[in-house]
Amino acid sequence: MTEEMIRENLSKDKEAITNLGELNDLKVKYLGKKGLITEFNQEIKNIPNEEKKAFGMKVNALKEEFNSFYEEKKAYFEEQMLNEKLAKEAIDITLPATKVVSGAPNILEKLIEEVEEVFMSMGYDVVDGPEIEEDKYNFEMLNIPKGHPARDAQDTFYIEGEEVLLRSQTSPVQVRTMLKGNGEIPIRMICPGKTYRRDDDDATHSHQFMQIEGLLVDKDISLSDLKGTIDIIAKKLFGNEVESRFRPSYYQFTEPSVEVDISCFNCKGKGCHICKKTGWITIAGAGMVHPNVLRMGGYDPNVWSGFAFGFGAERMAMLKYDINDCRVFYNTDLRESKTFDRKETE
Ligand code: DAH
Repeated sequence: MTEEMIRENLSKDKEAITNLGELNDLKVKYLGKKGLITEFNQEIKNIPNEEKKAFGMKVNALKEEFNSFYEEKKAYFEEQMLNEKLAKEAIDITLPATKVVSGAPNILEKLIEEVEEVFMSMGYDVVDGPEIEEDKYNFEMLNIPKGHPARDAQDTFYIEGEEVLLRSQTSPVQVRTMLKGNGEIPIRMICPGKTYRRDDDDATHSHQFMQIEGLLVDKDISLSDLKGTIDIIAKKLFGNEVESRFRPSYYQFTEPSVEVDISCFNCKGKGCHICKKTGWITIAGAGMVHPNVLRMGGYDPNVWSGFAFGFGAERMAMLKYDINDCRVFYNTDLRESKTFDRKETE
């Protein structure tokens, strides 16, 4: 094929190609082993020596022409492909965003935190104790000896024989705190924590529930100190107009023992579904620490005195947020915690 014919072919081919694949085919057609330019170059052996140089220059000119066309087109197609890809993957920032679903604090946790805040402001420490407890701390050192009927009231989960159990109350933390206190005064602590009893779960019972234990030991502590303390927490949690009252009760580890009622924050004492028409709501058990318990904890009851209390956390939260099933605290349905959230800010 002559130089002119190759040029003619090339100019037609240049017009026709539409993509990178076709461009590469062209390279084979012109510069491949049997390509038009390659074969044309082979003619050099039939050319007289003195014309070889001029012929070589022609071949080079053809090659250069092809190559510069090739490079230019290749860049063009590559850019085109990139643009197409970018267009396809473009993000439309005007589209509405996916909503982020945020969590809500567990309502029980929130109540416990509130109680902690109030007690901390009065100088109490927030302490912890083991959930797997020894009989010694859960019962014996709280003045409930083996075989005592008071044990039956707390249907306990025993883990190892009769010595190791899941604590049925947070009261053992009183004992542990006194022993750790080593006779130091004053003791001011609260302990929110999980407790366990062999109850069948229903709207008002759970085999696992939360108590908030409290203990104060100092000189000349009286029942009126307990009353004043309870008043403060009742007002902070349920509103300033709420009052508290004590009813006589019985616990092995306090003497005297009381049930703590608060006036109904909902109906202001008139009677409603929350206070079961009585005007009063029970929120805790409490009393003056029994001399035996003080003694076993390392504090001489002739010198020191103290009070203790135990709040039922679920019960308080249920009253505060008007919840009628304690199982909602332990399921993870966000819709429920959101509802309480709203109730509170209303
Ligand atoms: N531990 C008791 C219970 O589980 C509650 C309680 C009553 C705790 C009186 C106390 C207290 O600290 O003084 O029923």
